[in-house]
Amino acid sequence: MTNEIYEQIGVAMTCRSFEEYCRMFDLQASDLEGGAILDVAGGGSSFTAEARAQGYEAYAVDPRYEGDMKAWIYEAAEEIATSTAKLAGLMEQFDWSYYGSLESHREGRELSLVRFSNHVRSKEGQGCYVAASLPSLPLGDDSYNLIFCSHFLFLYAEQFGYEFHEQAVAELIRVCKPGGQIRIYPLISLHWKPYLHLERLIAHIRSLGCEAVLQETKLPFIQASTHYLIIMKIN
Ligand SMILES: C[S@@+](CC[C@H](N)C(=O)[O-])C[C@H]1O[C@@H](n2cnc3c(N)ncnc32)[C@H](O)[C@@H]1O
Repeated sequence: MTNEIYEQIGVAMTCRSFEEYCRMFDLQASDLEGGAILDVAGGGSSFTAEARAQGYEAYAVDPRYEGDMKAWIYEAAEEIATSTAKLAGLMEQFDWSYYGSLESHREGRELSLVRFSNHVRSKEGQGCYVAASLPSLPLGDDSYNLIFCSHFLFLYAEQFGYEFHEQAVAELIRVCKPGGQIRIYPLISLHWKPYLHLERLIAHIRSLGCEAVLQETKLPFIQASTHYLIIMKIN
């Protein structure tokens, strides 16, 4: 088996579904029922739309939630076609036991983008999506019980240095409620290499008075990507 990398220039805008988030972060209803949830680097994910439809108090943050949403929703639709073509050339490198096929992977992303797009433009969606970038979020201290960061922080490790990751994690901890959690996935980069500074970052998180542990993801896909990071804010 060849081990080619997934070529990517800049940060892609993807749109995973609520179910993918539940798998990725091994979420149970009890995790979601605890209060406000924040999806950081939410992109075109339908997590917030679907979580709200189920009665959870979910919000999302992304630098793209600003200006002409129509243009980048179109861009996200193009990204689905681009990533499908890239995956087609790398099929052997992935575990398809969850998605089943390339076609159903693509259909899932398309459905997620439609759900996101409908929600973000709806009356109900107003106020759920905040335009902001790590490492500085315009959100209050101690505000969210559960915070996610899916497919941003370590996936693009080659583009963002360790300092950025320390600052970003400190910011996520600031907006997390005492007793709450931050969950980050994946812990590898687009070169399929484990994030080099994870141990150092975990030591830093502990120095901030938080606990950090790795947990097994329930989303089999990227073969080298087996775990996500949980940061627990003690107080
Ligand atoms: C690969 S997408 C992930 C989208 C979604 N979380 C998912 O799993 O499908 C990465 C997202 O990170 C966002 N992003 C880029 N720079 C960021 C920053 N400094 N802070 C927060 N989000 C950022 C991009 O706009 C993009 O929507």
